[in-house]
Amino acid sequence: MEHAICFISTASNNFTVGEIETLLPKWREKNNKENIKGMLLFSEGNFFQVLEGEKTKVLELFQRIKEDHRHNNIIQVVGKDLSKGSCDHYIVEHLDEAEYSKPELVSQYCESVKGMDLETQQQIKNILKSFIDTRVL
Ligand SMILES: Cc1cc2nc3c(=O)[nH]c(=O)nc-3n(C[C@H](O)[C@H](O)[C@H](O)COP(=O)(O)O)c2cc1C
Repeated sequence: MEHAICFISTASNNFTVGEIETLLPKWREKNNKENIKGMLLFSEGNFFQVLEGEKTKVLELFQRIKEDHRHNNIIQVVGKDLSKGSCDHYIVEHLDEAEYSKPELVSQYCESVKGMDLETQQQIKNILKSFIDTRVL
């Protein structure tokens, strides 16, 4: 059974941008090995993550992530079984100032969840849009 989880969280104060940039590709590598797809965006101290893959693996990973002290204020937006997988790769990115509030980014990222049911897609799109928009407030 495929399962998808989407959450936002805040990086801990002592978790530096340099450390995060080193870790993002490592996590992508590990996820690729486990066949976990989705996306992880880091912007101005906040994470936005979508994890999709075999249910047991996704739940195990999310449990580890929830116990990780390098972030807090974890808000889970989506957690559901999927009839079929949707993402075909794992995107990790650190959005810098030049990329804030680019509407095309939202549609680009949404492309990767387009296999999910419409309600879940919409939930992810909304939260992703506000995640990206918040940068310019
Ligand atoms: C916001 C956030 C997202 C994370 N995402 C992943 C991830 O996608 N894949 C992963 O393997 N670890 C991720 N981690 C790290 C895990 O919490 C955990 O440290 C790691 O999986 C432990 O791996 P290890 O026991 O093999 O060292 C993330 C951590 C944070 C704070």
